[in-house]
Amino acid sequence: MTAAGEILDAARLLRERCAQLGLPTWLLNPAGLVLAEPSEASLAGLWLRSGEVARLVSRAVTDWSGAEKPELQAVMPGCWLIGLAQMRRRRVGGYLGALAMSRGFLESEAFVATCKAAHIDVATTRHVMREYANYDEASAKRVRLTLEWMLEDLRERHDQHSTIEGFTTQLTGAYETIDLLYALGRAMNEPNDPEQFVTRALERLRANMDFAWVGAHFEDDARIAPVVHGRTFVVGAPSMTRPALIAAMRRHIIDLGRPVARMIGSDVPGFLPDGGPQVIVQPVLRDSKAAGYLMCGEKKGLDPQVSSYDTQALEAAAGYIGPFLENAGLYADQSAMFMGTLKALTSAIDAKDPYTCGHSERVALLSAQLAETLGIERDLVDRIHIAGLVHDVGKIGVPEHVLGKSGRLTDEEFAAIKLHPEIGHRILRDIPLLQDVLPGVLHHHERWDGRGYPHGLAGEAIPRCARIIGLADTFDAMSSNRAYRSAMSRDTVLAEIARCAGAQFDPAIVPAFLGLDFTLYDQTVADAPAQRVFKVAAAA
Ligand SMILES: [Fe+2]
Repeated sequence: MTAAGEILDAARLLRERCAQLGLPTWLLNPAGLVLAEPSEASLAGLWLRSGEVARLVSRAVTDWSGAEKPELQAVMPGCWLIGLAQMRRRRVGGYLGALAMSRGFLESEAFVATCKAAHIDVATTRHVMREYANYDEASAKRVRLTLEWMLEDLRERHDQHSTIEGFTTQLTGAYETIDLLYALGRAMNEPNDPEQFVTRALERLRANMDFAWVGAHFEDDARIAPVVHGRTFVVGAPSMTRPALIAAMRRHIIDLGRPVARMIGSDVPGFLPDGGPQVIVQPVLRDSKAAGYLMCGEKKGLDPQVSSYDTQALEAAAGYIGPFLENAGLYADQSAMFMGTLKALTSAIDAKDPYTCGHSERVALLSAQLAETLGIERDLVDRIHIAGLVHDVGKIGVPEHVLGKSGRLTDEEFAAIKLHPEIGHRILRDIPLLQDVLPGVLHHHERWDGRGYPHGLAGEAIPRCARIIGLADTFDAMSSNRAYRSAMSRDTVLAEIARCAGAQFDPAIVPAFLGLDFTLYDQTVADAPAQRVFKVAAAA
């Protein structure tokens, strides 16, 4: 129950007890204004609700002057008002006034006067009021004390309830913040997908904070991952357009020159129907400057006002998102540098043989395309791409005159070429970042029927990555001019690959390869400087 509900409940309980004790009651404000009259029926009610009685009761209340524990007040001779203060924010917000009457009062001139003022019969009213006239001054004082103790007990219960309620709210808020930060912390281990991280973070925020929508916008800031530059992410359905959303974020963070969390009130036109701070903007800081913004809007639930928990949770989330995007940017830089180095290395090797220029990049491209078509997950596809790029790195150890020989190779020369998978494996095996691509390098010349090299592996004993690269490698070799033959047409190459399914190639992956779209491959061939050296047969 809420605190307000608890107060109302206490007042109702006190009125019930007073009724049982034969004490008619009024609810009054500290100035004596009647908020609720006695509910007694018939003549008793007419007398109690009459203007004269109400005026006397109101005057008694004003005499208490806002006292927290008012004394028994004589309203008329033999008739007393007991006051029970109702506290609001540690101040007296009103009184429950209970009227205690004596038998003697019913015989008094004062009683007769009030009946006449109310235009009701004195004798009949006296008769019905006997039910209430059970007190004298001493017993009225005792019942006042008893009711006051009861009120103190109710207040104590209310305070305890409020304390527990507040503690529960704090505990729930703290748990939800921890839960949110734990989820964000776990997601930070995947620096290669900043878009997914931001989307998931916003989804978690929205679920935890009970807002209709949560949004983020990132600037073209060199300190955060380029993939989010200029991007806006929104989870939920804001009642304002995206450009208006971004403008609001900027206005409240940048234009004010204060990169701190801001609650937005009714000064943002168009989406705050009732005014009040229902929207929070939080900067995503790098080096004390806003590289982006988070925004929560249109709070739902029983309390539509933004709470300190909401601002803390949003600030904490921004504290995770900022460093994550910076790390993701560094990771992207490192990856680009790593890939650049690999490409430079493989280009240098391909250049040893003028007929195989650009071969490694094309094999990498086709291998990745094939892996993707086979339904292999994104991360693994990226690794297969790298394996395709470095698959022939061992050719660095094969003499140039052997690689570029136009005539028939001698047995010794062929044996020298056959060493390149193992040489490549030896070159790469000490590089920690390339451990998972080693099987593709070592086994890309194995055959499904076991007649390949270097180990003569057969069937599924050949790592799948090597089966994929081997197929792409053969396709590119057949499609290119060689020192000893011209390029074969696309139709001939594909027919040859189909024919060799189950012999040279894994029959399970050949159909997927035959269905590939070779547009990008042909484009790569057309763009390569190697075009001057050889010509790939045009697509049929
Ligand atoms: Fe090779």
